[in-house]
Amino acid sequence: MAHPPGPSPELHCIPLFPSVAGGGARGWAEILPGGGPFGARVDVTGVALQPFLLHLENLPDPAELGPYTTYVAWITSPTLHPWLRLGEVGEGLNLTGEAGLNQYMVMVTAEDGGELAAPEGPIVLRGTSPSHRLQPHDLPFFLAELASAHGGEPHSMGESTPTGGAWPMPPMHPAVSMPAALMSLRPSVSPFWPGGIPRGGSGDGAGGAWPVFGDTPQARPRESVRLHEGDSLHLQAGFVERTVAGHRFLAYGFNGQVPGPLVRARQGARVHVEVANRTDWPTAIHWHGLRLENRFDGVPGLTQAPIQPGDDFLYSLDLPDAGVFWYHPHLREDITQGLGLFGNLLVEPIPEDWYSPVHREEVLILDDLLMGEAGPFPHGLEAPTHALMGRFGNVLLVNGVESWHAEAAPGEVVRFFITNAAAVRPFNLSIPGARLKLVASDVGPFQREEWVESVVVAPAERYVVDVLFPAPGDYPLLNRVHAVDHMGGVIFPEEDTLGVVQVKGDPPQPGPTAAFAELRLHGPVDQEIRGALQGMEALERKELHLELETQGLPFPLTPLLRMEAGWSPGVEWAGTMPDMDWLATGREVRWILRDAATGAENEEIGWRFAKGERVLLRVVNTATTLHPMQHPIHIHGQRFLVLSRNGVEVDNRAWKDTVLVPTGGVVELLVELSNPGDWMLHCHISEHLESGMMLHFTVED
Ligand code: C2O
Ligand code: CU
Repeated sequence: MAHPPGPSPELHCIPLFPSVAGGGARGWAEILPGGGPFGARVDVTGVALQPFLLHLENLPDPAELGPYTTYVAWITSPTLHPWLRLGEVGEGLNLTGEAGLNQYMVMVTAEDGGELAAPEGPIVLRGTSPSHRLQPHDLPFFLAELASAHGGEPHSMGESTPTGGAWPMPPMHPAVSMPAALMSLRPSVSPFWPGGIPRGGSGDGAGGAWPVFGDTPQARPRESVRLHEGDSLHLQAGFVERTVAGHRFLAYGFNGQVPGPLVRARQGARVHVEVANRTDWPTAIHWHGLRLENRFDGVPGLTQAPIQPGDDFLYSLDLPDAGVFWYHPHLREDITQGLGLFGNLLVEPIPEDWYSPVHREEVLILDDLLMGEAGPFPHGLEAPTHALMGRFGNVLLVNGVESWHAEAAPGEVVRFFITNAAAVRPFNLSIPGARLKLVASDVGPFQREEWVESVVVAPAERYVVDVLFPAPGDYPLLNRVHAVDHMGGVIFPEEDTLGVVQVKGDPPQPGPTAAFAELRLHGPVDQEIRGALQGMEALERKELHLELETQGLPFPLTPLLRMEAGWSPGVEWAGTMPDMDWLATGREVRWILRDAATGAENEEIGWRFAKGERVLLRVVNTATTLHPMQHPIHIHGQRFLVLSRNGVEVDNRAWKDTVLVPTGGVVELLVELSNPGDWMLHCHISEHLESGMMLHFTVED
């Protein structure tokens, strides 16, 4: 890694200034990317972890400052608590271990020995973290109030709403205040409630009467179906009623279930699914992660015509890979997937020892819903709302319910197949008291199993985690993250209990418990991945830049966003400003994938490859746009390896189809183009996809 001759103005560099004791000392701290198997490196509470590279010059002899023999580097919060010791340092380059705090100062102190828990000697150098650039939004607040005092018009009420409905006020985050002036603004689209829009005029476009609220069956829990070679499943996308957070409302489900049926099938089988669209939206069902025949990929306008309300479509699915996959609509997924149309497809491996032995399996789909006063906050009819941030929910769900629960016996090893079906929310899952072993991701096992404290799952990603419950008791499943309150200029922890595993009863047979202690190297996967990495120098390279264009955002969104752009976290983990986020719609916002070589954007790109080719794809998430944020990038019909993140090589890989690219981050992928056809590459944040962030490419046979 080359190091610049001086501090860089970029966000990953912290200039260090001398105190009086430091004299002529100077230096800077470079924040290096954290490692690990996930798209973002955080501790169990959700704080970003990173190593530091300290460049130190002209350090005085510590003995000149008093009874000191060495220098020690630390980070500490603005309140000087706690102190995290980075290690002993000296003149020149010093690489430290990983540490993290939300906002911190870097300090170098003179000490009499390096083993202290907190500094005792004088500070010689200090600097502040880039997150200190987070400032409260006083000025835009003031401007916003002023604008409304001068008769600030609502931005737009949209065209007359076909439902006759008007937008309700969005829910606020309980910990974050918003300027009153924003309250008068409305998005430039009409509000949509399921079943509220008679399409096709007559009111029977779905092949029957529109659902009547109170008269539509309540969604049932997911059922499991096994499909053998050649079997077919009838899958009806239709209306259901759901009850969440005490509100009963009309939503969508597959076969009356939320999530949709858990389909189990064996690797290598070909199975069929007859999809009947009985919703009020045209749709097409995408089988996320399957390397299937192109015409069954479920992309309207690319691989098939949309299935109109009332119509059917027969999909035939090939299952070449074992793993956990999922299905969801690929048209207005912000609404239809968001309100319940998603389900898992578990493909069981042919080799018997593909996974290590476990006692039982749990298949979890994570999701969130933005609940308003009387039900889910309405969606945009003509275009999605929440087009900048994506729609963060305020109720977190596992398998469609607020308090998921399971049982296990003490000593049992449970394999969790985890899928994130939320529009934008990444999860940081942990189970205090249990031991977590990371086993596999999207399209197969990791080369090596590894212990983890928490599991970071971006939208559309999957992880397979084996969990040992050592003793009787209740084990909560937690989501722990840190949220940014841009209004108040603070970062605060959020913790949700998603469910609980009750551990009781008699210990099970000991085989899997004993096997759990070992971290296995997956021979076949390791070999295949090593093989795929051969001869990379000769491969074609592509580079995509992730960018944003906006036009006509309601005042004062643009000045507010400019202030936020002074510093942004690598990952936005929560929606703290639902009342601001909904205002930007797909009409004002255009998210962009730009081909760095040609300048072509989104649908203009149209790459062509030959079947069997591999390509090196670099994805650069530009941090300098008006609203930089992370993007989970998904590639259809193929699989890829993550080679590096921010230039740091990934040391334990699994085949994947979705990768999280944090703000300002760069990932390098090795994409294997094994499956002919016309395929998509896109951001999996529903609102970003609907705001243009997609391209297609062709793999020629
Ligand atoms: Cu899961 Cu193109 O999507
Ligand atoms: Cu995105």
